[in-house]
Amino acid sequence: MSARRRLLGPGDVAPESPAPADSDRVVDPKDSFEEELYGASLRPRSFDDYVGQERVVESLRIAIDAAKRRGEPLEHVLFYGPPGLGKTTLAGLIARELAANFRPTSGPTLEKPKDLVGILTALENGDVFFVDEIHRLGRVVEEFLYPAMEDFQIDFVVDRGAYAQTLKLPLKRFTLVGATTRAGMITAPLRERFGIVHHLDYYSVRELERIVLRSAGVLGVPIDGDAARTIASRSRGTPRVANRLLRRVRDFAEVRADGRITAAIADQALEREGVDTLGLDRIDRAFLQTIVEQYRGGPVGMAAIAATLTEDAETLEDVVEPYLLKEGFVTRTASGRRATARAYEHLGIAQRPPAQERLL
Ligand SMILES: Nc1ncnc2c1ncn2[C@@H]1O[C@H](COP(=O)(O)OP(=O)(O)OP(=O)(O)O)[C@@H](O)[C@H]1O
Ligand SMILES: [Mg+2]
Repeated sequence: MSARRRLLGPGDVAPESPAPADSDRVVDPKDSFEEELYGASLRPRSFDDYVGQERVVESLRIAIDAAKRRGEPLEHVLFYGPPGLGKTTLAGLIARELAANFRPTSGPTLEKPKDLVGILTALENGDVFFVDEIHRLGRVVEEFLYPAMEDFQIDFVVDRGAYAQTLKLPLKRFTLVGATTRAGMITAPLRERFGIVHHLDYYSVRELERIVLRSAGVLGVPIDGDAARTIASRSRGTPRVANRLLRRVRDFAEVRADGRITAAIADQALEREGVDTLGLDRIDRAFLQTIVEQYRGGPVGMAAIAATLTEDAETLEDVVEPYLLKEGFVTRTASGRRATARAYEHLGIAQRPPAQERLL
């Protein structure tokens, strides 16, 4: 999710001294420096390489085809869903299919309308202008974007007070592709300006297995079918995690065995990395343990969990919690997060009955 990655396109030269990764968490579905360096080569290069999300891909193909036939730009597209599911990848594929330029940027880097003017006025007809983390655009920048998206023009106010005048500057007809992990934080007026909106959901184990096999092929590492399944089933539904686990397992296979990834090697390597059979890692377990042990199973607010773990609440909410919710380890209630029976069972901790029952 760093601004750094946006500056590094496929084929660009990587910076000389590696900056520290956002996190050394092996199943962290967020971007890391490693992915900046190596992720690009594993990125699907066409819709045919893009595994899963069939409904989304089909609908995009039709919209792209139709736009090409009419000789018009594609309508603006918004992708939302958890990190690492392929939003940026899809944005790049749209540009490729349209044979258009890909102009990536991200919400937090656009601080003032001024930052946007230079980019917008440089866009050509049909260009794909990609705004990652679009929920983090400032309000003023966002409002500046409205006429650009709707009428392909921007409004300039010159002078002040009684002499103020609005000048309109025409733009080329571009396609804005926005991506966000937080659909709830997108304002209604912005959302309404997207003609095409798609939600990306977690991938099935079968789909992740195909991704692992494809990536192993790209990396040139031999892998057994059941090993691919082992990695896939511990990848928390996320292609980015699947690729990252594959790289860790590959290292282990090369150093501790003959380089071939077998199910036994995959098992050992993932266990060493602290990734359990359900794909939960140390932070996931610490998150559950905090609720169970410090807060008697909850309900407890995210801020309290974050403080106990000395982690950033937003990161926990974006990266750790969604999968735990999906898998039924926690529930969200009005008064906070609660651990479920499944969480107790997975941690191997006996569930204490709720306080009221204990009094009886
Ligand atoms: N459908 C897919 N098929 C194959 N590989 C995929 C697919 N989706 C994603 N990947 C792989 O996962 C990695 C992460 O994907 P991507 O960067 O597009 O995720 P994202 O949704 O933009 O994440 P974020 O919200 O953190 O920006 C890519 O480098 C790519 O290799
Ligand atoms: Mg992305």
